[in-house]
Amino acid sequence: MAAPFLSVSDLSVRFDTDAGSFAAVDGISFELARGEILALVGESGSGKSLTSLSVMRLLPPAAAMTGTIRIDGTDVTTLSRRAMQDVRGARIGMIFQEPMTSLNPVLSIARQMTEGLRRHRGMGKTDAEMRAIAALVDVGIPDPEGVMRQYPHQLSGGMRQRVMIAAALTLEPGVLIADEPTTALDVTVQAQVLDLLVDLKTRLGSGILLITHDIGVVAETADRVAVMRRGKIVESGSVAEVLENPAHSYTRGLMAAHLTLDRVMEKRGGRPPRLTAPPEEIRS
Ligand SMILES: Nc1ncnc2c1ncn2[C@@H]1O[C@H](COP(=O)(O)OP(=O)(O)OP(=O)(O)O)[C@@H](O)[C@H]1O
Ligand SMILES: [Mg+2]
Repeated sequence: MAAPFLSVSDLSVRFDTDAGSFAAVDGISFELARGEILALVGESGSGKSLTSLSVMRLLPPAAAMTGTIRIDGTDVTTLSRRAMQDVRGARIGMIFQEPMTSLNPVLSIARQMTEGLRRHRGMGKTDAEMRAIAALVDVGIPDPEGVMRQYPHQLSGGMRQRVMIAAALTLEPGVLIADEPTTALDVTVQAQVLDLLVDLKTRLGSGILLITHDIGVVAETADRVAVMRRGKIVESGSVAEVLENPAHSYTRGLMAAHLTLDRVMEKRGGRPPRLTAPPEEIRS
């Protein structure tokens, strides 16, 4: 396998609370090679977003991080803010769980979509705008020219998420971190976005860390999977290994829930099940 492009060793993120200090991420290690999609799954609160924010060096000030994070051989935990800004724009991209984390409310979509291309890719204004419009088309945005003139608050949540995905993809980062990139999107757009991620991986050899709750998405797009629980990686391996023979109860639960939903869908002739009465296996 190729040398890892991203390597995380013994990463911990601690918070001090009234009840004492607790590790929301507790000594995890993993590697991501070029041309590989690693899925990070795990229950809510298990530390997935904090892990990705650590790699971006965008943790909230209250968080205390320890461990080593190397991107293309550089230990980013020791970089200055300034140097980190360059790494962030040029080599790592992130699709955030909450689009407004990365969209600036007072800048037009055009400005936000072209800024990185101009600064990190040296493009002129017109070229950057053309590239941005093409990226908006790629994520299925109707009337991309109109959207370019708008501001984030004028767009729906799903549109904002697509704009953020398009902005991250235009920079063609070596490492892309995608935190639940498709949750707010309907299934057709979701499939389109996943295709774009796979394309980034195969065409440019980018490494992608894909955070998701959807085991179907893992099965279809990822090469390897790591399962987090309470700040630790409790299981990891190739997607085939882990999904065919899940060792951990959380992974088995995820699989069971997925299979059960499939069976319910089949029985109901493809209509989605009522989530008010979840199947036995996913009740806890
Ligand atoms: N600023 C903060 N202060 C204190 N605790 C925090 C802070 N941010 C996150 N946490 C705690 O850290 C834990 C992990 O949070 P994180 O956002 O990484 O979870 P997650 O796996 O991404 O969950 P989800 O699937 O819901 O997005 C949670 O228990 C959360 O309460
Ligand atoms: Mg999260």
